[in-house]
Amino acid sequence: PRSIFFSRHGESLYNVMGKLGGDSELSARGKQYAKSLPLLIATHLGNSEQLTVWTSTLKRTIATAEHLTYPKLAWKALDELDAGVCDGMTYEEIEEQYPEDFANRDEDKFNYRYRGGESYRDVVLRLEPVIMELERQRNILIIGHQAILRCIYAYFMNHSHEKLPYIKIPLHTVIQLTPSAYTCEEKRFKVDI
Ligand code: F6P
Repeated sequence: PRSIFFSRHGESLYNVMGKLGGDSELSARGKQYAKSLPLLIATHLGNSEQLTVWTSTLKRTIATAEHLTYPKLAWKALDELDAGVCDGMTYEEIEEQYPEDFANRDEDKFNYRYRGGESYRDVVLRLEPVIMELERQRNILIIGHQAILRCIYAYFMNHSHEKLPYIKIPLHTVIQLTPSAYTCEEKRFKVDI
């Protein structure tokens, strides 16, 4: 059976500072995670299986895939949810500068659209071609972003739009989904760094 592997990028400098979005580099821990990936993937991919790695166009996903030797493709459609005017801010700063938006997002996180940016609903739409291609491919490893991977995970695991924005996709963890007739088998591999 074929598998879809996915992981968030390794910890980034923005993750460390609690800032959203941006295009920052990996932290030292994030770089360690990138180094640990080739062995982890090789261990869980069948011996004669092929794999293609998909990243976003942002530095942190490309750097996380750096040491993997499989064919790679960078998709703009896999870039993180665009936080618009809030890009580069912390949640505290957003709450202070845009208190109404902050409350609205809490009220309906799936539909809330950042000013000048996107909602989870927007991201689900822009991911359609990615999902169509995923359905046609054999083994794929996606190195992505939290909001994006929530949408892809929810699609394969049949999670509702209400639950989707709260799905836990931790850092430094590879999730393996193996689709079968009606559902997916799921395994998680956490790297302790
Ligand atoms: O903090 C990392 C991050 O990927 C941000 O870039 C992004 O805006 C956020 O997570 C998405 O999570 P949430 O929708 O829960 O704010």
